[in-house]
Amino acid sequence: MNSSKMLKILFVTPEAVPFVKTGGVADVSGSLPLKLQELGHQVRIIIPKYALVDERRHKIHEVVRLKEEYEEVKGKKIMFSFRSSFLVATKTRVQIYFLDNKDYFANRKGIYTDPKNGKPYSDNDERFILLTKSVFSLILKLGWIPDIIHCNDWQSALIPIYLKTVYKDVPELQNIKTLLTIHNFENQGIFPLDTFDKMELPKELKSEKGLLFDGKINFLKGGLNYTDLINTVSDNYVKELCSDAEVSFGLKNILCKRREDFSGILNGIDTAVWNPEKDKRIPKKYSIKNFEDKQINKKALCERFNFNFDENVPIISIVSRLTESKGIDFLMKGFKELLKVKANFILLGDGEIRYKKFFEEKAKKSNNKFACQIGFDENLAHLVKAGSDMILIPSKYEPCGLNQMYGLMYGTIPIVRKTGGLADTIKNFDEKNFSGNGFVYEKFTMPDMIKTINRAINLFSKRAIWEKLAKTGMKSNFSWANSTHQYVDIYRKLVG
Ligand code: GLC
Repeated sequence: MNSSKMLKILFVTPEAVPFVKTGGVADVSGSLPLKLQELGHQVRIIIPKYALVDERRHKIHEVVRLKEEYEEVKGKKIMFSFRSSFLVATKTRVQIYFLDNKDYFANRKGIYTDPKNGKPYSDNDERFILLTKSVFSLILKLGWIPDIIHCNDWQSALIPIYLKTVYKDVPELQNIKTLLTIHNFENQGIFPLDTFDKMELPKELKSEKGLLFDGKINFLKGGLNYTDLINTVSDNYVKELCSDAEVSFGLKNILCKRREDFSGILNGIDTAVWNPEKDKRIPKKYSIKNFEDKQINKKALCERFNFNFDENVPIISIVSRLTESKGIDFLMKGFKELLKVKANFILLGDGEIRYKKFFEEKAKKSNNKFACQIGFDENLAHLVKAGSDMILIPSKYEPCGLNQMYGLMYGTIPIVRKTGGLADTIKNFDEKNFSGNGFVYEKFTMPDMIKTINRAINLFSKRAIWEKLAKTGMKSNFSWANSTHQYVDIYRKLVG
């Protein structure tokens, strides 16, 4: 254990595996805190208790002294409680607090959007104002004063703002520093101007120096102005964000202004969870030594999706949130061409209704060629990784991307567009000198993508080389070890 002072870190996040997941922020939130705690730091997590969070399965219990607290949102007193459980790993466990409020969270089927109409809940601003205020209430009630509040994405981006304004004179909170990690700039928490009146913040924050952006209230922008340090999830994404306003969805200037305080730390993956040798969720465990057993998983995957099993026809999978920036729009437009390729396709994911409808419809009509499963299904995600031959990630932007790393661990070769963290983790395969670990294309165009998929399919028919490439991927090291230390370095820089 490190001899320098151990830190207290409060990790605030909108989602965490295994409790609730819509995207990669959940994977990070379900693993990084454990790794920090394994190093000897004290970590606690806060997330909202959505209806989807299974109380029984996760042994979530009441905490008597954290019951029936009140905070004001929109001028009304809102009652909430914190319930508690643990994020568990073999070596350690981290205490997790669930913000429990019926109207805003527990009684709703969706997480950010209403499943009835696919639209964001109209009071998402109020929901995450409550999360923010509840964080301070929890700290004061527990008397557990963190050195760092580690915020994640727009849902917790208001924390630094409140800390430095409304709560600035509270003695217990004076020394707390904040880090804001942005997992994707696409979602910023943008609301109409009158959201400001629900927040009870000093008037001067209703300005460009505060939360105002483009005539609207922007939670993420406000957080970027107020947090002590900022990071995102790969170096290459940092470069892109600082050079291209489109990648930052408009926030480039503020990032440039804070360039000194802004860094990239590549995500790790939980190698205890994503390991084909130990994976209890797949029909047959395998490793480099019994790589041929991957075929048993391929068979199971074929059965699951009613495909005829054929060792010589590759299965290419896409596991993604269904949004434009993940390249899903693009797949939709080029769907016909995609299906001309000599491979079978599986799509697993959830997101915008228009995509769900389109792909479900196509799956009905493309028997034995294209199948899809709409929804977030972690068990199936494991089978898909184990049973597929390739994983396609056609993103327009990709802050880090985790599926290419999961793919490599399972000997499932990534085909990716060269963007963000994909460019940092996947290098184009070169047969001549056997370098690289996947297939990479640069331009966000259909011909480039199809050409690259065909290149992969061509290599797939050369079994010996393909296997060698797959096994090389399985030996990669994407553990959290390195990145955890980089987070600790940031925390230490903050506490001085
Ligand atoms: C978001 C990003 C993804 C990243 C993940 C975890 O989902 O879109 O690229 O890997 O967050 O940081």
